[in-house]
Amino acid sequence: MKKYFILSLCIAAYCTAIGQVARPIISIIPQPASVQAGKGSFILRSTTAIEISSADADARRVAGYLSKKLSSATGYPTPIKTSATNLNTTGNIRLTISADTTLGTEGYRLTVIPNSVTITAYKPAGLFYGMQTLLQLLPKEIESNTAVKNVSWTIPAATISDKPRFGWRGLMFDVSRHFFTKQDVKDYIDQMVRFKYNLLHLHLTDDEGWRIEIKGLPRLTEVGAWNVKKVGYFGTFPPPGPDEPRDYGGFYTQNDIKEIVQYAKERFVNILPEVDVPGHSLAAVVAYPDLSCTPGAEKYRVRSGEVIMDWSHGAPPIALVDNTLCPANEKVYDFLDKVMTQVAELFPFEYIHVGGDECPKNFWEKSDAIKALMQKEGLKNMEEVQSYFEKRLEKIVESKGKKFLGWDEILEGGLAPSAAVMSWRGMKGGIEAAKMKHEVVMSPTDFAYIDYMQGDPVIEPRVYATLRLRDAYKFEPIPDGVDPIYIKGGQANLWTEQIYNMRHAQYMTWPRGLAIAEAVWSPKKSRNWNDFLPRVEKQFERFDIAEVKYAPSVYDPIITVKKVSNDQLQVELSTEAQGLDIHYTFDNTFPDKFYPKYTGPLNVPKEAFSLNVITYRNGKAIGRQLNFPVTELQKRVGRK
Ligand code: ACM
Repeated sequence: MKKYFILSLCIAAYCTAIGQVARPIISIIPQPASVQAGKGSFILRSTTAIEISSADADARRVAGYLSKKLSSATGYPTPIKTSATNLNTTGNIRLTISADTTLGTEGYRLTVIPNSVTITAYKPAGLFYGMQTLLQLLPKEIESNTAVKNVSWTIPAATISDKPRFGWRGLMFDVSRHFFTKQDVKDYIDQMVRFKYNLLHLHLTDDEGWRIEIKGLPRLTEVGAWNVKKVGYFGTFPPPGPDEPRDYGGFYTQNDIKEIVQYAKERFVNILPEVDVPGHSLAAVVAYPDLSCTPGAEKYRVRSGEVIMDWSHGAPPIALVDNTLCPANEKVYDFLDKVMTQVAELFPFEYIHVGGDECPKNFWEKSDAIKALMQKEGLKNMEEVQSYFEKRLEKIVESKGKKFLGWDEILEGGLAPSAAVMSWRGMKGGIEAAKMKHEVVMSPTDFAYIDYMQGDPVIEPRVYATLRLRDAYKFEPIPDGVDPIYIKGGQANLWTEQIYNMRHAQYMTWPRGLAIAEAVWSPKKSRNWNDFLPRVEKQFERFDIAEVKYAPSVYDPIITVKKVSNDQLQVELSTEAQGLDIHYTFDNTFPDKFYPKYTGPLNVPKEAFSLNVITYRNGKAIGRQLNFPVTELQKRVGRK
């Protein structure tokens, strides 16, 4: 029985003869629809070329990417050979466009035999995704940007047929809260396509910065793109003084946007622009104060992380500063018409995202202009006021030939039939919208908010909520009872209030971005956490070589605390990653593998000051040391 078990594990991992050097295992994220291991392997050599029979410029570009990637890591020339017919040269990699429509516009078939590698697709995007899979079949050193010597560039024989579950596979990058340069955005695109994402949602405007040049509205970027540089915990800063320089931030010129859009297109990525209105609009209000209903708005300043909302009563927040556009002001619709005209011209994608989230209503409640609008239009409450605004904005967006998309708040107070909804406050907004026959993209906080902490707050940079990898992996975009035709797909959202630089953006995106990639690409039935986690660990090795940062939080101990008597705390420890030993101490020193190993619930000694823990695998430290002060443990009693 045991032997049979080991054998089946071996088959599952596509390994070879026991006791021999194993062939590289097939470990791909997102898991392809179908993988069949073959016999033997293909070896990439200095003589290997890439053959392409298609004259299609997009297909040829994919060949170019592959050649560049292979040659920079291997040092081999890997030239591209073009021919009207398949050359079928032994030892080469062939890219073929086929008339087989069953692969769909993004699917591919990858066949590796000892003599050749062939990627077949109906469209060039499929070749691109086949290439991504091929790269993951190569040894991890393929991620190197410089030539690596003494590697056998072996690709295990396999037949892989693959196509995505959803057409909308998105990542949202908030470039407003902190500005990220054009090059940062390109780098982010380069990383996301490795895992077959095809949509980048750019959150371009918010209270902290307006990031896109709009001709004829120069103050949006002259004034609205700049705040005061602060470091620490964003959201807790004191308001900046009048003398502090407002030189932190930036924006994309229209040429920059064109360059980013083109860069994305060449990598089969659409860019979804978001202009977040009527809330989250302080930068626009500061630039043009007469867009506000509130007298005195000209004294406002672009937010630099100071408190501008009171969230103590839940959502919507109570604004301390009116960060909204005024729905009762015709100038607002003229402004939005100008903005949407240019946004529509710059971004070829069929949707424009108009935000609509977290719009405070307390200043509107006090506004005579809003009261007059309500009377004139028969609007009963503030939700209907926002709904009036959204419907007018929808007409503007549609007049530019674009589809209207907003966060799920746009459902409140009534929604125009053709509007699409991005569900973020859990899945329920999406479920409700789908039942009303609206198109839906799922990006719920419960699974897809990758700005949340991914491990314990004693070590992670503090954010107000936690989303561990294992929970992100539970993301299922199609809820029970919903007609799948309304669910366009899903995306993960990277808000950047607490993200000050690109390295941390990477840390927050990976590995949870891998979990979401699999949720939106792979067949539902193939998804399995125990199978996923070892594949994630393989990606860690690749990230290390590619010098992409990722969170190692899966190796950190997870703690739960309870009280077993009046004055006795007890802790239980576990980890997300498998096969780890947890070593601990209560004596304020640095635990290592010579310290006690956790085997079951621990009673906290009465006078202990801190529980310090670290994880090991096979005798090597793998996790980070976490120190839990007993005062912190006390606060956590009963928390999950
Ligand atoms: C959101 O997270 N406010 C859409």
